[in-house]
Amino acid sequence: MGVYIDKISDYVDQDVTIKGWLYNIRSAGKLMFPQIRDGSGIIQCVVSKKEVSEKVWEDFSKLTQESSIIIKGKAVKHPKKEDVYEIQVNDIEIIQIAEPYPISHKEHGIEFLLDRRHLWIRSPRQTAILRIRNEILQAIRDYMYKEGFILFDAPIFTPNACEGTSTLFSTEYFDLGKAYLSQSGQLYAESGAMALGKVYTLGPTFRAEYSMTRKHITEFWMMEPEMAYCDLDDTMDLIEDFLEYVIQRVIKFKKKELEFLKRDIGKLENVKKPFPRITYDEAVEILRKQDIPLYKKTEKGEEQIRPFPHGQDFGAPHEEAIVKNFDKPLMVHRWPVETKAFYMKRDPKNPNLSLGVDVLAPEGFGEIIGGSQREDNLDYLIERIEEHGLQMQVFEWYLDLRRYGSVPHSGFGLGIERFVSWICNLEHIREAIPFARRPNRITP
Ligand code: 4AD
Ligand code: MG
Repeated sequence: MGVYIDKISDYVDQDVTIKGWLYNIRSAGKLMFPQIRDGSGIIQCVVSKKEVSEKVWEDFSKLTQESSIIIKGKAVKHPKKEDVYEIQVNDIEIIQIAEPYPISHKEHGIEFLLDRRHLWIRSPRQTAILRIRNEILQAIRDYMYKEGFILFDAPIFTPNACEGTSTLFSTEYFDLGKAYLSQSGQLYAESGAMALGKVYTLGPTFRAEYSMTRKHITEFWMMEPEMAYCDLDDTMDLIEDFLEYVIQRVIKFKKKELEFLKRDIGKLENVKKPFPRITYDEAVEILRKQDIPLYKKTEKGEEQIRPFPHGQDFGAPHEEAIVKNFDKPLMVHRWPVETKAFYMKRDPKNPNLSLGVDVLAPEGFGEIIGGSQREDNLDYLIERIEEHGLQMQVFEWYLDLRRYGSVPHSGFGLGIERFVSWICNLEHIREAIPFARRPNRITP
């Protein structure tokens, strides 16, 4: 019977079979210490020349990094370390002796590793991140399920833009002209909310932005809840409850991985509701107090505009400055209409403001969530579509949602890779997804 390494503590002093790959091997005279990984973890083994046959000893001597092997032996507790186990090996079956493996245990450059991403994902750091990503996605699904949200899968080929026309990937679509890769499932989720009350989408979304920052990929996963009879405040309440649940769950079940990544877990434990809420205006005040300018690209280079002008969107340095003095996610709400998408409802108290909210993660991670109350008035929505220069005809179906039983409704979108980056404390988003797609990379 094969046993997975992460379950080995159930088999102490029993004979086990482990099917995996050689991660590393060290020899000391008549002993060899192979480390074997099987996908669930890595375990140290002990091979003693006087305990095993000559063939077994020779087979171990031949092994190269990443050779695939099946070993048999006795699972034992580490003599000194708590919660650590070893295998005293008595047999080995070699499945394949691997060719010289390109990724050794020394440091490699990032481009070298990205070219070999299909192999790089075998490393302990990458598997820790991918396990945490899995836990995050499972916790999201569990939270949504327990709260009564219906998973509502939005299409990826779409006829219309959702988040502005400048970041659309297009493709030819048979005789129907151009189709676009979805920037967000939101518009479809809105139709789902009118059918099912509370829904969410979870899938890949695309932005054709030539952004080479550590926060942008061209294909990212987004989770988007949408609720009928729900306003901006309800949405902020949901965001708090949801983020707290997912983060506390990851800490509970993926502590080892977080520790392996040297994540300061205390900072995550602190993410409990309520979260601070400030308006865009207050955020601008914070920037002005710190004398953070707007950075504007001009022909002469970069210009700095002081004080930070009201009505401008925030970039990464602004987000960092705004959250600097907060140790929880910060919700910034009520944005100037010109900074936000066409579908956002205007604040009834101030038509210059959109009822939108951005959630900025602490520790410099910046925006992880964008959400809003949606415009539910047919005439206003038509005006917005015209103002934004969008083609009315492809939004006819969307306008129907305001024609047939329109209700106040709201939702948000969480960028999965931004969230994984924050939870794992990654310097760059490219490690937060198995195969990151960036403007300069599409392979492997
Ligand atoms: O703020 P965004 O553009 O909002 C929407 O798409 C709304 N339709 C969501 C909604 O209300 N249903 O994107 C939402 C989130 C961002 O906060 C960010 O976390 C992530 O998606 N995101 C990206 N992540 C990685 N790379 C990119 N290029 C991203 N663009 C957005
Ligand atoms: Mg946004």
